[in-house]
Amino acid sequence: MPFLSAALDRVKPSATIAVTDKARELKAAGRNVIGLGSGEPDFDTPANIKLAAIHAIEAGKTKYTAVDGIPELKAAIIAKFQRENGLTYTPNQIIVGTGGKQVLYNALMATINPGDEVIIPAPYWVSYPEMVALAGGEPVPVVCTAEFGFKLQPAALEAAITPKTKWIILCSPSNPTGAAYSRAELKALTDVLVKHPQVWVMTDDMYEHLVYDDFVFTTPAQIEPQLFDRTLTVNGVSKAYCMTGWRIGYAGGPAQLIKAMATIQSQSTSNPSSISQWAAVEALNGPQDFIPVHNKAFKERRDLVVSMLNQAKGIDCPRPEGAFYVYPSCAGTIGKTAPSGKVIANDEDFVTELLETEGVAVVQGSAFGLGPAFRISYATKNSDLEEACKRIQRFCGNLR
Ligand SMILES: Cc1ncc(COP(=O)(O)O)c(C=O)c1O
Repeated sequence: MPFLSAALDRVKPSATIAVTDKARELKAAGRNVIGLGSGEPDFDTPANIKLAAIHAIEAGKTKYTAVDGIPELKAAIIAKFQRENGLTYTPNQIIVGTGGKQVLYNALMATINPGDEVIIPAPYWVSYPEMVALAGGEPVPVVCTAEFGFKLQPAALEAAITPKTKWIILCSPSNPTGAAYSRAELKALTDVLVKHPQVWVMTDDMYEHLVYDDFVFTTPAQIEPQLFDRTLTVNGVSKAYCMTGWRIGYAGGPAQLIKAMATIQSQSTSNPSSISQWAAVEALNGPQDFIPVHNKAFKERRDLVVSMLNQAKGIDCPRPEGAFYVYPSCAGTIGKTAPSGKVIANDEDFVTELLETEGVAVVQGSAFGLGPAFRISYATKNSDLEEACKRIQRFCGNLR
């Protein structure tokens, strides 16, 4: 009898974590490596948030809490949804988890039955299809090409929906492409969804605050109130508040779904860290003025990276609306030969050869469901970005 669960046959380890680990290994071995693989802001957690955590420790707020979050954090989340998204929730419609990742996982575990289909626009965040498969469902990727800004088109959505469709997972601004849906683009999708009452909407708004050039963020339940009763709006403090290590994510949704998610959480991890929850209260209720400051830096970095990558031979890099990723095509390099003699047959070869010869770590597009391309996270200092882009230019220039 096999020792490991058959569920493991349905999932693969995260490609983004694998690249980060490989880059760390090469660095430890003394190589000069620039890691553009990992998806977290390089900025430190703001001081007022850290202080709130210190105060929580000193005040002894270090015990178990309610599984689905302390009332103070739920209140801060309710106020956030009202203030920023025009969404009205009650405390029994809110859950707090250990990162946005756990919240998404809870929702899929709580709702997926064998054979249930989940529509996932590709390129997608690596964890969506894996979580769906682990829950016993069928991920249904729908490829969204650069021609349409990597965005799902209404006709493609309509074509992907079947009687077995349980969820669609939307992510805007997107990891991995940075693409974000305008109000009109999102409305065109919610118009389709209104006609299919069996389909629930899981919207991953983790990058809500990271938008540039006056882009206005909107979320499906805000645009289409008819979808409110079948939408789970997922968000978190990891990206906007530079709190990736604190592990706090949350969601608003129908009470019955939230209760089911809390049941899953109660039998797996219980409450998220009490100290992190108090820090998140301060993040959501406290000053928000550092966000535009960070965004100015991110926008400059995006512009730098897009411009330098478009000067690399065989690379074509669209300029996305948000997040801190770009998703250039490397189609123009496929079939070429590197100085090592290695033929670049696909994007995995491209990123492996780039890491080995130039010490730049990026993630292959095929891991996100659309290649040949690669993802760069530009949440790192300008001098490293500039040097990395120079190395990519040199790498591409040396392909024959
Ligand atoms: C699109 C997307 N959703 C969810 C998450 C998970 O966020 P957290 O770190 O809060 O679990 C990430 C993190 O990389 C992400 O990129």
